[in-house]
Amino acid sequence: MKRIEIALPASLDNLRLVERPIRRPGAGELLVKVMANSLNFHDALVVRGILSSAAGRVPLSDGAGHVVEVGADVQAFKAGDRVTGTFFPNWQDGPATVERVAQMRGEHVDGFASEYVTLPADQFTHTPATLTDAQAATLPCAALTAWRALTVASTVKPGDTVLVKGSGGVSVFALQFALMFGAQVIALTSSSEKAARLRQLGATHVINYRETPDWGDLVRQLSNAAGADHVVEVVGGDLTQTIKAMQVNGHLALVGALSRQPVQFSTLAAVTANIRISAITVGSRTHQAQMMHAIEQAHLLPVLDRHFELPALADAFRYMETQKHLGKIVITR
Ligand SMILES: NC(=O)c1ccc[n+]([C@@H]2O[C@H](COP(=O)([O-])OP(=O)(O)OC[C@H]3O[C@@H](n4cnc5c(N)ncnc54)[C@H](OP(=O)(O)O)[C@@H]3O)[C@@H](O)[C@H]2O)c1
Repeated sequence: MKRIEIALPASLDNLRLVERPIRRPGAGELLVKVMANSLNFHDALVVRGILSSAAGRVPLSDGAGHVVEVGADVQAFKAGDRVTGTFFPNWQDGPATVERVAQMRGEHVDGFASEYVTLPADQFTHTPATLTDAQAATLPCAALTAWRALTVASTVKPGDTVLVKGSGGVSVFALQFALMFGAQVIALTSSSEKAARLRQLGATHVINYRETPDWGDLVRQLSNAAGADHVVEVVGGDLTQTIKAMQVNGHLALVGALSRQPVQFSTLAAVTANIRISAITVGSRTHQAQMMHAIEQAHLLPVLDRHFELPALADAFRYMETQKHLGKIVITR
């Protein structure tokens, strides 16, 4: 089988397409034919060497495919089942602990940029019947993060206002989940083309953050003059406008740092508004199974941008860096 490995020093020019033997599953394991992956900002940091990885590490946290063979003692899956991998190999259930979040797939352990993987069965969930493998492969990192921000760390309710920033993977899932729970969405974006797409996807209001850099008061006015109830924060840096845009007792989910700047805001402003703040990384296998159930029931379809093939993985990351995408970039076989 073919797979992509990182040669050191890690860079997009050092992603190697190599031939490796397929390993048959041992007790408790599955052999899975991987049919699709999606790209995440975390993967980009690994393949570019910004986060360290081992020589020969297989990148990509997200993958979906079907079971080819099950090892002894596997009850939950059978050959032919469609499955989706989990981001954390060691976080099955319960709250985050040091052990559960210590290893991230595609960084500390091998990821899914491979034609086949042989892994413990408890590192997969069943794929929703309503989704293709490419759609399912967008879920383990970006979707689960948005899900946890809005339904676990806080509880989005009908009539709430959710503020999402930009049109990347996490933010588009946050928009879709917010709508699923009956909330209205205010989206920030950089261009009129993306604004039109975000309106089509259901955003009630879209603000161009380049044309309106002081958008905090506008978001507040557009959310019944009260402010946003939930913010899924993927940008970081100066959050003065964000805190200004928020409702008293609103929830700020710190998720990402696209600006690569440390978060800054006025303690007085946040305390006065009684802002609730959570910092989260993805979620557990149980969170993933619950999200998949909800996605299947609601017939929610992930928003896919361009498709690339596995040997063109470096080109896919170069495209991601242009930030022209909306939703998820996928790798198909
Ligand atoms: N904590 C976690 O568990 C977790 C999980 C997943 C991702 N993350 C983090 O969350 C962040 C987003 O990840 P992603 O996969 O969604 O990234 P992505 O798909 O690469 O998102 C990129 C998009 O973000 C928007 N953007 C960039 N700078 C912006 C700014 N200053 N203001 C508003 N929007 C901006 C742009 O959209 P527009 O052109 O529309 O503005 C851009 O196309 C990353 O920092 C990632 O590491 C964290």
